[in-house]
Amino acid sequence: MNTNRQILLINRPKGMPSQENFKLISSQIPEINDGEVLIQTIYLSVDPYMRGRMRGIKTYTNPYELNEVLTGGVVGEIIESKNDWFSPGDIIEGRLDWADYSVSDGNGIRKVNPTIAPITTALGVVGMPGLTAYFGLLDIGKPKEGETIVVSGAAGAVGTVVGQIAKLKGCRVVGIAGSQEKRDYLEKELGFDVTINYKEENMLQTLRKKCPDGIDVYFDNVGGEVSDAVMHLINFQARIIVCGQISEYNKEQPQYGPRVQRFMLNSSALMKAFIVGDYADRFQEGYNQLGKWVQEGKLKYRENIVEGLENTPRAFMGLFMGENIGKQLVRVLTES
Ligand SMILES: NC(=O)c1ccc[n+]([C@@H]2O[C@H](COP(=O)([O-])OP(=O)(O)OC[C@H]3O[C@@H](n4cnc5c(N)ncnc54)[C@H](OP(=O)(O)O)[C@@H]3O)[C@@H](O)[C@H]2O)c1
Repeated sequence: MNTNRQILLINRPKGMPSQENFKLISSQIPEINDGEVLIQTIYLSVDPYMRGRMRGIKTYTNPYELNEVLTGGVVGEIIESKNDWFSPGDIIEGRLDWADYSVSDGNGIRKVNPTIAPITTALGVVGMPGLTAYFGLLDIGKPKEGETIVVSGAAGAVGTVVGQIAKLKGCRVVGIAGSQEKRDYLEKELGFDVTINYKEENMLQTLRKKCPDGIDVYFDNVGGEVSDAVMHLINFQARIIVCGQISEYNKEQPQYGPRVQRFMLNSSALMKAFIVGDYADRFQEGYNQLGKWVQEGKLKYRENIVEGLENTPRAFMGLFMGENIGKQLVRVLTES
């Protein structure tokens, strides 16, 4: 292949993203300058936070610009290097283009050791989502043995890691997810104690039954009505970790649920939002611990892999329809 296919954002989604928001183009494979590397994409990650960047509003990160190549987590191989730190054949992970090839000056890319775990895990369980679960749960949630922890978005990239780490800490883990298949995976393969299908059950009634001792830690990936229900059951000095609000990302107007301050005050609870980048200076600790748990078989993972760069927008949209169990990836190049 001697052309470079790239995916552009050509207009901003209103509500649910659609194919009309994206365009696939072809151009020449870029030349590199001194200090740069040329990377061939093997896997791309699609992530819910990208929806926020498509809005065109600056938040903790810059928005995607229209008619520019989208970027996200990539695992790729160095094809050509004019940078002393990287050699052809190195496998790296970093925030790069939705494209067959990217150029980098080496900042923000890291070498991946394929002998520790399959390279896909650098985008999932031993990558950004794994770090999110690790730091959010342990640093903010501070789970203690015997406590009840509830995690929403439980069958996704972050949620599956949160629940398993909580089990390693001796907690009773309750997972909230959107299908029976996801419930089965969480209970039978990952060892969650209890699961709830938020699409089929009355959340407040079901939580009352399934959390008879209340909720000590809530790891919130979804927000909205699910979280409104959880708030009724928080215990004295509960910890609420605001990680994501995926139920709200496609809404043009924010929706407000029951006021939560009463529950917070009555329980003297802590609610803290975070961005994984807050922990950038501790990422190596996270990679080491997550990699060790994977190698020891204590942390299991699943990946949902869509084939072909051209199907990246479809894979991204699938996140909002609950199509993935575990980490959603796109395979751009078949491994040799
Ligand atoms: N704070 C940070 O630094 C940080 C870092 C990474 C991720 N996050 C956030 O963490 C959350 C999970 O991310 P992830 O990468 O692990 O994604 P993911 O859970 O692997 O994928 C998204 C899942 O969200 C669920 N979902 C979609 N629409 C929903 C809705 N309206 N209500 C409830 N659930 C819905 C779907 O599962 P169901 O079938 O269960 O609906 C879907 O599979 C996201 O909110 C993301 O933005 C935050």
